Amino acid sequence: MMVSDSLYCTLWMLSFFGQYLGEDLQFSGPANGAVGGSVVFAPDNPPSTTLNIVQWQFGTTLILTAQSDSTTIVPEYSDRVSFDINTLALELWDLRLDDSGIYRLTVLTSAGGQFTGETSLQVFERITNVRLIGPEELLIEGESSANISSEGTGNIISVQWMKDNSPLSPSNSIIFSSDNRSVSISPVQRSDSGEYQCTYRNPAISETAQLSLIINYGPEEVSIKGEDVVDLGVPVSLSCSANSEPAASFRWKINETDTDVTTDTFTIDYTDFTHSGDYICTAWNNVTKRNATQQHTLLVKVGGRGGGGLSSGAIAGIVIGVLVAVAGICGLTHLSYIIHSAQKDFNLSHITAQRHAAKIKRYMDIDR
Ligand SMILES: *[C@@H]1O[C@H](CO)[C@@H](O)[C@H](O)[C@H]1NC(C)=O
Ligand SMILES: *[C@@H]1O[C@H](CO)[C@@H](O)[C@H](O)[C@H]1NC(C)=O
Ligand SMILES: *[C@@H]1O[C@H](CO)[C@@H](O)[C@H](O)[C@H]1NC(C)=O
Ligand SMILES: *[C@@H]1O[C@H](CO)[C@@H](O)[C@H](O)[C@H]1NC(C)=O
Ligand SMILES: *[C@@H]1O[C@H](CO)[C@@H](O)[C@H](O)[C@H]1NC(C)=O
Repeated sequence: MMVSDSLYCTLWMLSFFGQYLGEDLQFSGPANGAVGGSVVFAPDNPPSTTLNIVQWQFGTTLILTAQSDSTTIVPEYSDRVSFDINTLALELWDLRLDDSGIYRLTVLTSAGGQFTGETSLQVFERITNVRLIGPEELLIEGESSANISSEGTGNIISVQWMKDNSPLSPSNSIIFSSDNRSVSISPVQRSDSGEYQCTYRNPAISETAQLSLIINYGPEEVSIKGEDVVDLGVPVSLSCSANSEPAASFRWKINETDTDVTTDTFTIDYTDFTHSGDYICTAWNNVTKRNATQQHTLLVKVGGRGGGGLSSGAIAGIVIGVLVAVAGICGLTHLSYIIHSAQKDFNLSHITAQRHAAKIKRYMDIDR
């Protein structure tokens, strides 16, 4: 009971005398600014009662005095401050390093109350000429190392690195200098390709420079897309690809013999039997000076069946065709007998033999 009574008493005394002692105007944290920039000081809790006099001071120097209908700014500040009587906000621009310090706001209300509050400003030098210096030589995966160093002037409190918009973290191969101003990557991997950003910061300002790195690699995973077995007389295209930076260039060999084809696609307009063979694509990377090959076997066939040369069926057909021709010339008409004997000689099924015979006969009819 005693405690509670004395607490109420204290609170009452504070609220009664508070207005004579000066109540607190709160500011949200100290402010930072950059040379040449601007800053606004505004209390979070401006008094709601009618104001009589408002004063802003820097240390012991008066900046301005305002009454409801007039604001007087001292000459030293006249061209770089403005004041808003409703929010009590003071804006200060063309900031200089010596603007750093304590800013104090005093308000006298018409009722005779006094409110005071203060906040602080720290002005930082601008950060300028930030740039990144990267390796000049071409970088090869697994072989090269890369140093990226940064430069910049001004009041630099921290240096931060990003790669492709994500923070860059140290690893076995990525090492930061103790002041974070340079990064060394050794050896480089293809995943190190990308856009590097380095940000120089102080509490008021930041400045970022960028640099992109390309890591060369490959060729690898060479592959050839295209058919393995094709009919006689059709177009064929074999297409070679490789994983490579920069893009690989291609050369084609057939059966170990160079061709003059240097595009990724080898095309044959119209296949004949001599087009069968081993097609070898060599992918060449002119930066890594590496090459890699892939082989593809192409087989050109009659009707897509049978062996490499003429099938026994085709030979049988030719023989039967010749017999048919002879029969025609000699006036023999016992065709089924001829076919039957050819079928036996070549050990073919009746159907196959008849088909070949019919085909050859058709060609001969057209010729006539
Ligand atoms: C990278 O920097 C380190 C340490 O400063 C140095 O030893 C190395 O030779 C540099 N590498 C390149 C490629 O410049
Ligand atoms: C260097 O960078 C790391 C990670 O970005 C950070 O934690 C560290 O504080 C920085 N050090 C300096 C001196 O800037
Ligand atoms: C490749 O060799 C095979 C077998 O020796 C041959 O049949 C084919 O005609 C050759 N291909 C070319 C295009 O020289
Ligand atoms: C690699 O070839 C490309 C185009 O074929 C050319 O622009 C580039 O300069 C070459 N690079 C080297 C290192 O030879
Ligand atoms: C591929 O590389 C080997 C070894 O470096 C070289 O002898 C060969 O000529 C290269 N082939 C091509 C097509 O560049």
